[in-house]
Amino acid sequence: MGIFHIVSTCVLLIIIAGIMTRKNQKLHIPLMTAAFVIDLTSVLVIEIQRQAVEKVVGSTTHPLLIFHAVISLMVLVLYVLMMTSGKKLQKFIAEIKPMELVTLARRSHVTYSVVFIILRLTNYVTSFMIK
Ligand code: HEM
Repeated sequence: MGIFHIVSTCVLLIIIAGIMTRKNQKLHIPLMTAAFVIDLTSVLVIEIQRQAVEKVVGSTTHPLLIFHAVISLMVLVLYVLMMTSGKKLQKFIAEIKPMELVTLARRSHVTYSVVFIILRLTNYVTSFMIK
């Protein structure tokens, strides 16, 4: 298990903690924000390292690696959707908007979170399948 696998495992544990504390905004939001910052940093560091390696050994485009990279980018996009829908939900709850609006905002945040979790788990599993 390399350093990036260890970091990725820690992020998954943070996300699990974030989901368990989903009703507590003071815990849920910082945990999910931390997960995003760590994941974003990892993707950037891995990408910079890869480009350095490719300059030396030439480009290798293994299909699984491409799949993994695409999923990683989709995870980052989903993080943005989680943050925008989460901010909106937070605002609606704080402003005591009509219940239907809060329910709608909650529904889109939950829908995105299902897609997010599937993609983040796919990202984790495929990271162990590539060299
Ligand atoms: C990948 C990151 C995230 C995931 C997977 C996630 C997932 C969830 C889930 C499953 C809920 C429970 C909804 C319900 O039970 O109806 C929730 C609630 C909530 N989330 Fe997130 N979330 C994430 C990030 C964020 C972020 C960045 C914010 C920032 C504002 C946020 C704000 C909220 C709020 C305000 C609630 C409602 C809490 C309450 O009931 O008082 N979430 N989230």
